[in-house]
Parts: sequence; C-alpha cells; structure tokens
Amino acid sequence: MNEIDEIIVTGGRPLHGSVRIQGSKNAALPVMAAALLSTGTSVLRGCPRISDVYLMEKILKYLGAETWWEGQDLYLDCSHADGTMIPECYSGKMRSSVILMGAMLGRSKKAQTGYPGGCVIGKRPVDLHIQVLRRLGAAVVENGGMIRASCGKLRGAEMFFQKRSVGATEQGILAAVLAEGKTVLNGCACEPEIYWLCIILPEWGQRSGSVKMAVSVLKEWRSLKLAIAAFHQTVLSPGPISWQRRQPEERSSWKIRLWRKWMESWTYIGKWVDNAAVGGKLIVNGKNAGFPLELLETEVYPGFPTDLQSPAMAVLATIPGVSRIREKIFEDRYKTASWLCKMGAQIQIRDGVAVIYGGQPLTGCTVEAEELRGGAALVIAALAAQGITRIRGCCFIERGYEHICEDLTALGGLLIKDRGTL
Ligand code: UD1
Repeated sequence: MNEIDEIIVTGGRPLHGSVRIQGSKNAALPVMAAALLSTGTSVLRGCPRISDVYLMEKILKYLGAETWWEGQDLYLDCSHADGTMIPECYSGKMRSSVILMGAMLGRSKKAQTGYPGGCVIGKRPVDLHIQVLRRLGAAVVENGGMIRASCGKLRGAEMFFQKRSVGATEQGILAAVLAEGKTVLNGCACEPEIYWLCIILPEWGQRSGSVKMAVSVLKEWRSLKLAIAAFHQTVLSPGPISWQRRQPEERSSWKIRLWRKWMESWTYIGKWVDNAAVGGKLIVNGKNAGFPLELLETEVYPGFPTDLQSPAMAVLATIPGVSRIREKIFEDRYKTASWLCKMGAQIQIRDGVAVIYGGQPLTGCTVEAEELRGGAALVIAALAAQGITRIRGCCFIERGYEHICEDLTALGGLLIKDRGTL
C-alpha cells in the first residue's frame, strides 16, 4: 500500500455519482482474530485493504499464520499459529490487537500482549476484557506494560458486563468458542459487527467440522444476552473455509436494509437524507440535509454511533442555525472541532456538549487528522470549503478508509492524494 502524505482537496463542488461501499474495518478485524480459533485456512472475501487489516495480518503472521491475498480476498492459514505473544510494537498501534487474547488463550492456554493502542479518543481501559477472561477461568496479570494471561482450560461461565463494550463482547465471544461448556454473556454490545461475528462463527464451525457451536443470538438479542455453547475441536479443518456465504448482491441488500433501518431510527438524521434501496444499492439524495439538529447524542447501537459524530459535526458546521452534539461514549472525541474552527466553523465545547453555530463559510487551509473518524470529518469539511484544503496525518485516515480519494474523486469532489501531484 502506498502511504499518502497529504490529501489535497479542491472543495465547493456538488457530489453525484456512484461508488462501491467497502467492507467494514470493525467487522473484518474480529473475524480475522477468529481465524486463530481454526487450524485450517480461512478466507475473508471482499476484505478491505486498509492499514488496520494489514496490521492485524502482520500480528497473525507473527503468531505463526501464513497469509496471502488474492485480489480482494484475504487467506489466513492458522495451522501453525501457536504463538502466544503480541509485541508492543504491534499492540500499541491498534485497539483490536487485544481481542486476540481470548483466541490465543483458547488455542494455546497462554496469551501475552502490550496494551492496545488505536485512536486517542478517551481513556479506553481494558478492564472489561480482563474481567471476561477471568470469568472464563484465566489468570490475568498486568505488569510492566504487558497483560499476561494463562489458563489450564477455559471454562464456560456466565458474565454480566457493567458497560456495553464492543471489544469486550468480541473478547468474550472469541474466548468462549474453545472454552469447555456453555458461556452466557449478559449486557453485550450488539453493534452490526457483533451480529456478523455471531453469524459467521457457527457457520464456520459447521463447515469446518472443527467447532460445533450454538449461538442463540437472535432469540435473546433484545435482552443483550448471548449464549455460546462450544465443544472441543475434534477435526482439523480440511481445506479453505470461505466466510462469504451470501452472493454479493444478496449480501449488500442485507447490509443496506440494516443501514436504512438504522438511519431511520436516528431522530432528525433520518429526515436529512432521502434514501431508497434498489437492487442492493442505496440511493441517497442529500437535498434535505438543510436543518440544524437541536441535540444529537451518541449512544450504543442502535443509537447514533460515536464513529459518525465527527463527520456529523463537519456537516452541521455547514448548515445554518445552532446544532448541539453530546458525545457519550468517548470523553475525548471533540478534537476535530478546533481544526474545523481553523477552516472557519464556529464551534464551542461547553460542559461536554459541542455547540455548532452552523452556516459560516468554510475556507480551505492546512489541517491535521488526529484520529481516524476525525480525519474523515476533515475530508468532508474540505469538500464543502472554498479553495484548497491540505489534510495531513493521512495515516489515520488510511487505517479505516480504503479508497477515500478515489471514491470522492469519482463523485466529483476532486481530491488529489499528495502534494507532488498538485
Ligand atoms: C469499538 C470500535 C470503535 C467504536 C467503538 C464504540 C473497533 C475496532 N472499534 O471500539 O470504532 O467507536 O467500538 O462503538 O471495533 N470501556 C471500558 N472498559 C473496557 C472496554 C471499554 O470502560 O474494558 C469503555 C470505553 O472507554 C468506552 C466504552 O466502554 O467509553 C465503549 O468502548 P468499546 O465499545 O469497548 O469500544 P472499542 O471496542 O474500543
């Protein structure tokens, strides 16, 4: 992957056209971690080629996996991935590195990692991850910047999460797969990536014959309870197992149905955008995105996602009137506001609420992405600004967006990747 130095945007042009939506980073990473539970080859079809996926691939290789790409499909052969230690130089770069603990413990009864990195958007402790591993029988010690865990054998148990955490739920699911007996997780996160992991795991178990698993996800979904009954591995998986059951058209219809339902449930935002789903495509007409929002609060799924908070702030900065955003998941996720202000936006943070006096003209200048979604927000603001905006810190944007420049160029938003081409 070529690293982008700087994204240069000539803004102020209306967007129209059609783009393919990439696979989800937050769905791909736990599925890659789940490959460690297998002793055969797994294939992620349509896997996004983004730097976080490459980093997870490097970690799996370090643990002994063989990996390769065929176009957009990622092959992971974990037959010999018996490593039990993730060095800090890898773990410190990505939050999802920590969810490998449960899989390593299930497989090798030992796991060691440095603290996970990722976007600096709040404290992001790992207490719930450690709690669920302990609940399943692991001894976990935090010492000298490392988390070390070991177990005789993981054993199924019941866990009550005090807080809904996407990563800790994934950790619990992955640890439960090779644990003896039934695990019940209460107070789970139920973001689409969790749902997806729960669909994939039993299917994979059935197809490989290596793990038999019943995940009574749908039955108890409303009460945020997952029951995972897994039995010992009995057979090594004989050949590649593909994780793309649905045909592309069918799969994208499924995603689009979910996406539409989700959007419609957000107060106000659903009214911003006219959208219609036709044959696996989402058709969006943004002409109604013209009124401010009295209060937009981030919530766990199915509430408004924290990952869209900064992009929403950029959009609200362009809409006349006063809007407010309250970030309720991560305590330090307003960093983008000051860069938007540099572009001409008027945003004040008061008592944890961002007050946006929208409709001020935005003007291109040099700005810096400090984290992934905030970087995407700056690209959005740059598209609306007059003149040229230079966005630095592109390594953050590349962690999660595969073809952001190509896609927005295709929609007429003229983006140039690096300073050399201007
Ligand atoms: C995941 C997503 C991230 C998204 C977030 C919330 C990935 C790779 N990242 O991050 O894009 O913004 O979900 O939807 O999937 N917490 C604790 N203790 C813990 C774990 C979390 O207190 O052990 C807190 C966090 O500080 C935060 C809240 O729980 O305030 C939710 O975090 P969590 O859902 O765990 O986020 P991640 O899994 O890190």
